[in-house]
Amino acid sequence: MSDLHRKKSIRLLLAEAADNEKGMKRTLTASSLIALGIGAIIGAGLFVRTAAAAAEHAGPSVTFGFIIAAIGCAFAGLCYAEFSSTIPIAGSAYTYSYATMGEFIAWLIGWDLILEYAVGAATVGIAWSEYLNNLLVNVIHTSPIPYQWCHSPFQVSSLGTHGMMNIPALAILLLMSLLLIKGTQESALVNGLIVITKVAIVIAVIIFGWQFINPVNHTPYIPEPTEYTTHAGLTHAFGGWKGILGAAGVVFFAFIGFDAVSTAAQEAKNPKRDMPIGILGSLVICTILYILFAHVLTGMAPVEFFRNEGGEASVVAAINKFMPGYKWLADFITVAILAGFSSVILVMLLGQSRVFYSMAKDGLLPYKYAELHPKFKTPAKAQMFVFLIVGVFAAFIPGDVVGDMSSIGTLFAFILVCIGVIIMRKSQPNLKREFKTPLVPLVPIIGIVFCAAMIYGLGWANWARLGGWLLIGLIVYFAFSQKNSKLEKHPELIEGGSGEDGYHHDGSSKDAGDLL
Ligand code: ALA
Repeated sequence: MSDLHRKKSIRLLLAEAADNEKGMKRTLTASSLIALGIGAIIGAGLFVRTAAAAAEHAGPSVTFGFIIAAIGCAFAGLCYAEFSSTIPIAGSAYTYSYATMGEFIAWLIGWDLILEYAVGAATVGIAWSEYLNNLLVNVIHTSPIPYQWCHSPFQVSSLGTHGMMNIPALAILLLMSLLLIKGTQESALVNGLIVITKVAIVIAVIIFGWQFINPVNHTPYIPEPTEYTTHAGLTHAFGGWKGILGAAGVVFFAFIGFDAVSTAAQEAKNPKRDMPIGILGSLVICTILYILFAHVLTGMAPVEFFRNEGGEASVVAAINKFMPGYKWLADFITVAILAGFSSVILVMLLGQSRVFYSMAKDGLLPYKYAELHPKFKTPAKAQMFVFLIVGVFAAFIPGDVVGDMSSIGTLFAFILVCIGVIIMRKSQPNLKREFKTPLVPLVPIIGIVFCAAMIYGLGWANWARLGGWLLIGLIVYFAFSQKNSKLEKHPELIEGGSGEDGYHHDGSSKDAGDLL
């Protein structure tokens, strides 16, 4: 029976990170990492899920939800930053946990990160499809895509039309996957331009929308505790502190992505310095913008609007209805956000393929996904495999379901990362850390408490989905990954194993080739 706790040697990881000759190109600087972070962060969470959280959970007090989500992210982010500055190698929380908590937990996290990145990308793809329809109808003044071809089979229109599959969501995901296969450098450049536009439209909504805040919509700011039944027939808390926690879990999606910066560590020029700056810098900027934005949005339109006609492409729907004279702003946002969502999709797909790449290199997924494209030096096969998974979610599952699944999966991963920092301080006290999480174990513990509170707020349906997902992961692990793990075949690569100095042999991609 293999050891579930076997850990990958940290020295081996660092050797892999140093080996950039045969690995990926190092092209990203601190500012391009912040841009990468903001590119991943501002997206469907703000432009679609904020209105849903207000409508279904907390009304105007969704702003408190943002504060809770930001606190959870900041504390977990400090833990992420320590990991990413110590182990600057692709793979995010998966890689960190492999070195600290062992293969089994690493597998669980890697599997769980599919919820964050792949299912997250699917959520944004679905939001992209909503805004594309808005572009067609309100900006270009043509017919929308027929309901059945831009909604999942689980959705029914007010006229009784059933959805079949979301084709626009699939199309944008394919396009972004192909772009990533071509190379990160070009993608980061396009991303930079989009980030500037995206921040500009958020600021424009805050400034122009502020005068349209109707105090009636903000009264009471925290609705009385009651219940709300969704269109799918699920009943959960609305208002009060439970409503705020539920909203925090939903809008947490808007923060997903700041950790995606850490997945690009292998492509950063100076990862030890730049990763913490990239992670925390992008988080701070976005938090300020989000709170102001949510305050304006919920002040502009009543909750009932977002429950009904303003449910899709919610921000531009609200501007068109409640900000007379600002159709130009709504139109501009529609065009800009289509580009903005694309950049989010790009980073999520990038993160996912890099996690797959790392897992494949370790033998936990088939080795072919660890091959780099001979010309572009990107993990092209992993990228296409990711597209297939993301595509299924985007085409056939509703946006609110995938959005909340992505939130809960990420929250779970964050908790494991916080635990990982505490463990690593004990098990690897002398390891050189460029960035140290302050006040350990207090900071990780606060991170754990806030993330757990949001998981609680997301309710039993999401707990069940997370449980089901992890169960499938267990089956795959015991049926395939454990047997094929590189550590199974090369015990000398295990932390504290017999021949740890053998890591030099593994630092090259040639070694991965030998194992194919
Ligand atoms: N944070 C990203 C978004 O809001 C995932 O779209």
